[in-house]
Amino acid sequence: MMEIQVDLRSDTVTRPDAAMRRAMAEAVVGDDVYGEDPTVRRLEEEGADAAGFEAALFVPSGTMGNQIALHLHGERGTEVLSDARAHVNEYEMAGAAAWSGLQSRTVAAADGLAGAAEWRAALHPRSSFRARTSVMVLENTHNMAGGRAFGRERVNPILALARAAEVRVHLDGARIFNAAVALGVSAAALTAGFDSVMFCLSKGLGAPVGSLLAGERRWIDEARLVRKRLGGGMRQAGVLAAAGLEALRHGPGRLAEDHRRARRLAEAIVASGFDLQLSAVETNIVIFGTAPDGAEEVVAQLGERGVACAPVSPSAVRFVTHRDIDDAGIERAITALRDVASAAPRGPLRESAR
Ligand SMILES: Cc1ncc(COP(=O)(O)O)c(C=O)c1O
Repeated sequence: MMEIQVDLRSDTVTRPDAAMRRAMAEAVVGDDVYGEDPTVRRLEEEGADAAGFEAALFVPSGTMGNQIALHLHGERGTEVLSDARAHVNEYEMAGAAAWSGLQSRTVAAADGLAGAAEWRAALHPRSSFRARTSVMVLENTHNMAGGRAFGRERVNPILALARAAEVRVHLDGARIFNAAVALGVSAAALTAGFDSVMFCLSKGLGAPVGSLLAGERRWIDEARLVRKRLGGGMRQAGVLAAAGLEALRHGPGRLAEDHRRARRLAEAIVASGFDLQLSAVETNIVIFGTAPDGAEEVVAQLGERGVACAPVSPSAVRFVTHRDIDDAGIERAITALRDVASAAPRGPLRESAR
């Protein structure tokens, strides 16, 4: 592949900008394991506020935040229920089983969030012959469903079901601010009623490292102990929290730009003949279909034109827009895409396979 000129692999690839680097250099720090880092404290307070919870905990990654939540909400020897393509199910190295003795059960939905009836059918109540569901996870936006954002009308019936069944519900809100911007509401409006939320500072918001896990204060006190047990106690973490604060304060305000650019890309994808439903592109993630088993080749061809992206299945490719991609980058990607669609060396790569 030639040198990467437009990196659409993920919104995790952003580099800290000058203001962020300055904030990191000037951060007042202390030993956070002793609770003495004022910048981390500040980030946790502002993060809790933004997420609509009493308290928050700074964690090195979204995965650690999700796994701490599963560990505390779930009970060893029971089940965690999530969408089939949820990050907790697919991309966390079987963490629920490895750390917390939880068996995973899934519910499938085309757009990443099944209706309450499907969740009800998959949920196991306490019984003497099979493991009960102790925790459920919803993901908003849903990464592998193409960045879909879910409003209260979709979420409320599922939360009501969980309440009635005495099942805890964690929100994987890695991109909750993308959802909030797309739906025109606050992040807190989307987290209300959940027992906890994890959101990432290091994705669309642009920080180099870190996520926040938010919940009730006493629950977060417990989460702090689990974080330490997992080796996530960080010392002078204020240098990272300073970047996180910049991301939290200034990141959400520019996400609409990423969404606009994703939309522009999506229109070009459709115009080039690839398989994509425009109305499904709601935030900064675009997943489109190629010919059967064509994804690897489309990715390779784009790579040769300086555009980096990733296959997400044998016949689907993902583009993610982010802060380090401007309009010129989008136009460059579109030119490459058109080129690949028209000059595909082996048949109609763009023919739908989904
Ligand atoms: C929906 C979702 N949840 C959780 C994570 C995990 O975040 P991290 O990579 O910081 O562990 C990701 C990362 O891509 C994600 O997309």
